[in-house]
Amino acid sequence: MRKNILSPSILAADFNHLGRDIQDVVGAGAEYLHVDVMDGMFVPSISFGMPVMESIRKETDCFFDVHLMIEQPERYIETFAKCGADLITVHAEATKHLHRTIQQIKNCGLKAGVALNPATPLDALDYVLEEVDMVLLMTVNPGFGGQKYIPQMTGKIRTLRQKLLQMGLETDIQVDGGIKESTIREVLEAGANVCVAGSAVFGEHTAEKAKELLNIMQEYTQW
Ligand code: DX5
Ligand code: ZN
Repeated sequence: MRKNILSPSILAADFNHLGRDIQDVVGAGAEYLHVDVMDGMFVPSISFGMPVMESIRKETDCFFDVHLMIEQPERYIETFAKCGADLITVHAEATKHLHRTIQQIKNCGLKAGVALNPATPLDALDYVLEEVDMVLLMTVNPGFGGQKYIPQMTGKIRTLRQKLLQMGLETDIQVDGGIKESTIREVLEAGANVCVAGSAVFGEHTAEKAKELLNIMQEYTQW
């Protein structure tokens, strides 16, 4: 049985008080910290990179779940490994040699994830599914926090979970974008087990909001 994990996205944190915000969510029981790296090419926006990761790594020993929204992520795998990543997720759309990039992540001793944009079919995972620890299904178009969950993604989550079960794989399914109190039950019920949440967690009463999502997640352990 796989565990349900909350991965708060620090993209929505107050960067002026990043250490405090991280302590709040870790203290509330979040096991992962979702680190969104954007390059202004693969996605329109630019977020933050290595120096920020290095300094927050000193702040916490929490599991760093690094989501690379960058073109040719193979250029930066070793660098992010050195900055303290525990898991690196690359987009299938961003690398020409997905299989090789996954091996590169694993060769660094890290867990490997593959992300799919909402319009990318699940077929993109054929031939690599056995190799990855986690599949990230984007539930909004990547690039910004605070967007609305795309309802068609629920069927995509369900189809992937069924496929994994048929293959006898316990791979994690992460969902990212628009996850909040009103949408989290739907994704958990469909078979997601790692939930990213940015704007639904950070802001006022960060610890309480993280705890509320964690409480809902505890109700869903049925698969
Ligand atoms: C979007 C990022 C997300 C984002 C989620 O491109 O990958 O991780 O921070 O933000 P919310 O939870 O606000 O939709
Ligand atoms: Zn993300």
